[in-house]
Amino acid sequence: MTEKRALLLVGSPRGIEKSTSGRLGGHLLDTLKARGFGTEQVHVHAAVRSPDALESALAAAAAADLVILSLPLYVDSFPAPVIAFLENVAERRTGAGRAGLFLLIQCGFPESEQNATALAIAERFAAEVGWRWLGGLALGGVETYGGSAHEVLEQIGKALAEGKPAPDLAAKKAMPAWLYRAGGNIMWRRMAKQNGVAGKLRARPYED
Ligand SMILES: Cc1cc2nc3c(=O)[nH]c(=O)nc-3n(C[C@H](O)[C@H](O)[C@H](O)COP(=O)(O)O)c2cc1C
Repeated sequence: MTEKRALLLVGSPRGIEKSTSGRLGGHLLDTLKARGFGTEQVHVHAAVRSPDALESALAAAAAADLVILSLPLYVDSFPAPVIAFLENVAERRTGAGRAGLFLLIQCGFPESEQNATALAIAERFAAEVGWRWLGGLALGGVETYGGSAHEVLEQIGKALAEGKPAPDLAAKKAMPAWLYRAGGNIMWRRMAKQNGVAGKLRARPYED
């Protein structure tokens, strides 16, 4: 039997090692590796920077049975280099009729609902290029899915390895949104102080 292949596309400018997208995607990829999949990871921002890197990323997508797209929500959509890469896939219909797509997306606002438009974009993309839509996991700042991230990704990895769509999991609040916002405000104030702009957080330099 030929080995099934899973490709992780990391769509954060912070890279594979340092980003939340890379770390969560890496855990999901590990669950597939443990189930006998051949695995590969590509940093999308690096892939779109040179023609050679783009060709090799597209070849990896063409060979994949399963593509995990793991990214941060940017302005209710995907970071621009991810859109550029997906446009190349769509133009060539790379992996049409072969690949399945799973979206792992997380955002900075408290609610996972913020990711709804991006999930719909991914589902529509899969339909347009002939990839099988396997669902997505959308994470907000204060929500969990009834277990640790590792447990949830293990559950999803098991379904994906069996060729099934990911289970539809209901989000639960891990902390109140106001507490998350208060923590965020502390972080912004600390960063402003470190950068010498503590008194300027409400500045509107382009107003005049
Ligand atoms: C340019 C930019 C746009 C963003 N847009 C949104 C947004 O529309 N909604 C949201 O909830 N978070 C937004 N965020 C927050 C990121 O989605 C969030 O910080 C994410 O956890 C970063 O993941 P990463 O470590 O994988 O890059 C944005 C961040 C940046 C830098």
